[in-house]
Amino acid sequence: MAGLIPQNFIDDLISRSDIVEVINARVPLKRKGKEFTACCPFHNEKTPSFTVSENKQFFYCFGCHAKGNVIGFLMNYEHLSYVDAIETLAADQHLDVPHENNPAADHKRQEKQPLYDILQTAAELYQQQLKTSDRAINYLKQRGLSGDIAKRFNIGYAPQGWDFLVSNIGNTSNRLEALQKTGLIVIKDNNKTYDRFRDRIIFPISDQRGRIIGFGGRILDQGEPKYLNSPETTVFHKGFELYGLYESKQALRNIERIIVVEGYMDVVALAQHGIDYAVASLGTATTTEQIQKTFRTTHEIIFCYDGDNAGKKAAWRALENTLPVIRDGMVAKFLFLPEKEDPDTMVRKEGKQAFEQRIQQASTLSDFLFNNLSAQSDISSNEGKAQLASKANALIQKMHNSLYKDLLIENLSQLVGLSQQQLESKISTNTQKPSAKAQPVTAVRGQQILLNKTRIAIALLLQNPALAGQHKVPESFVRASNKGLPLLYQLQQSIESNTDISAAALLERFRNTEHEKTLSILSMLNTPETENTDNIFEVYRAIIERLNNEQRELYFNEKLSNNESLSPEEWREYLKRPNQDPENNI
Ligand code: GTP
Ligand code: MN
Repeated sequence: MAGLIPQNFIDDLISRSDIVEVINARVPLKRKGKEFTACCPFHNEKTPSFTVSENKQFFYCFGCHAKGNVIGFLMNYEHLSYVDAIETLAADQHLDVPHENNPAADHKRQEKQPLYDILQTAAELYQQQLKTSDRAINYLKQRGLSGDIAKRFNIGYAPQGWDFLVSNIGNTSNRLEALQKTGLIVIKDNNKTYDRFRDRIIFPISDQRGRIIGFGGRILDQGEPKYLNSPETTVFHKGFELYGLYESKQALRNIERIIVVEGYMDVVALAQHGIDYAVASLGTATTTEQIQKTFRTTHEIIFCYDGDNAGKKAAWRALENTLPVIRDGMVAKFLFLPEKEDPDTMVRKEGKQAFEQRIQQASTLSDFLFNNLSAQSDISSNEGKAQLASKANALIQKMHNSLYKDLLIENLSQLVGLSQQQLESKISTNTQKPSAKAQPVTAVRGQQILLNKTRIAIALLLQNPALAGQHKVPESFVRASNKGLPLLYQLQQSIESNTDISAAALLERFRNTEHEKTLSILSMLNTPETENTDNIFEVYRAIIERLNNEQRELYFNEKLSNNESLSPEEWREYLKRPNQDPENNI
């Protein structure tokens, strides 16, 4: 587990960095009075409405209202997670990011560095070799690749022989250890070393930050295995990485869609034809983590497979892995190519335009889902409809609550001729809804306020300070991005500092703070929850627990999507958490 990055490090890092410099390196800025401007990188425009303030160290776009500090800029512009943005900024300043209370994590980071270094060195050696091998060059030419594209993907060639790497990199014990740990060489019992990749075209695989983490190697002639990949190592986890993602981000500023294909060659061939937004999962089914990562980069994914049975199966796996991830505003589509074709052969045959036409016409997730399920049951009979409904239900349950989910339920209800209410009642008795939707706006003495669980909890605590002694607000709420949760914790602390405090005195403590107005409205709120004095404690506890579950869910999602590992304790909690396996509830 990586451990938290200390806040003072982040503060310090932000104050050392100059947002103008960081942005200017990526989007050339022009000075205009006190500020700097450019055409906004986050939306299309012809006249500059993107401004950067040197004084405030903030950016703001008058066109699309994108705004933030230097970290926010990097997250949006380079499609980085929060932690990766901090790492990137720190790397610019030649600083190592410390992780609180976690010397093990720091140690691990230091252990990884030699592996990244050796992988980079090997990649450079393979690239040099490509230049000297006519055989390898001819192979790539014959597959329609230009020198430019080979360079963009750092394609190389691992020569014949057993000891190319060791004889070029050296056989000191450190180097041997790093070579072995990256899987580049195998050391046998007699201490003899063997290169893993021999006489193969080499496709280096980069992580989100452009560090090389592994290789795929293709045989030049016929032979087995056709592809050889780096093994899983401490820096290379196949299920989490996507070949070509880094290269797409380098090639494109705004990635409107990403096409997920099966092979290295597909990614490279598409790029050769000007389709720079292809990525490949690394020889395995596309995992939820990979899909999550892709959706952090773009809002639309097109999964592209062969039209044969194996392709359909792979697409179905991708669909199942997409459902738990997809949220409103995200689009997943499925593109099936004619049998015997893959994106490489297809784009070479028909070119960019025709291929993009296919992308345009890809099936939507809901079409693919319902067509496929309908084909499995006889939906002219009631039994068939019931079967379809129950299969579709099980899948739809994997989704977050969203308009999109509602829409799928509606589609299903039309398809099977059950009313949406009948279906929904079936569904909602099977699962608790993980997050209650925002309840309608309520008027309190003429003031409008939007109600949600957090605000009801605040109202309950404010009106009944004694609740603080009965059920604790978790400390982790302090770090929640939902602003109400830190406030809830702050209220609890105020009460703990004076357990006899009255509601009014409590309110007084927040005078002249940003929370004053909300708290004064909530102190007067009347809802069924606040009025039902019989079981106010139960209601309060239930709300806090649900809020906590939601926070834990966000925490796990963030960790897992950042590829951070969970402690055994956390895994246990993760697996046991409520509502995660709807199929078991049916
Ligand atoms: P080309 O024949 O070079 O066009 O290959 P391709 O990109 O069309 O690959 P294919 O569709 O045969 O396989 C898709 C992906 O599966 C490859 O990019 C590899 O990641 C993986 N793969 C294919 N063959 C092998 C193999 O023999 N061993 C391993 N480990 N992976 C393979
Ligand atoms: Mn192919």
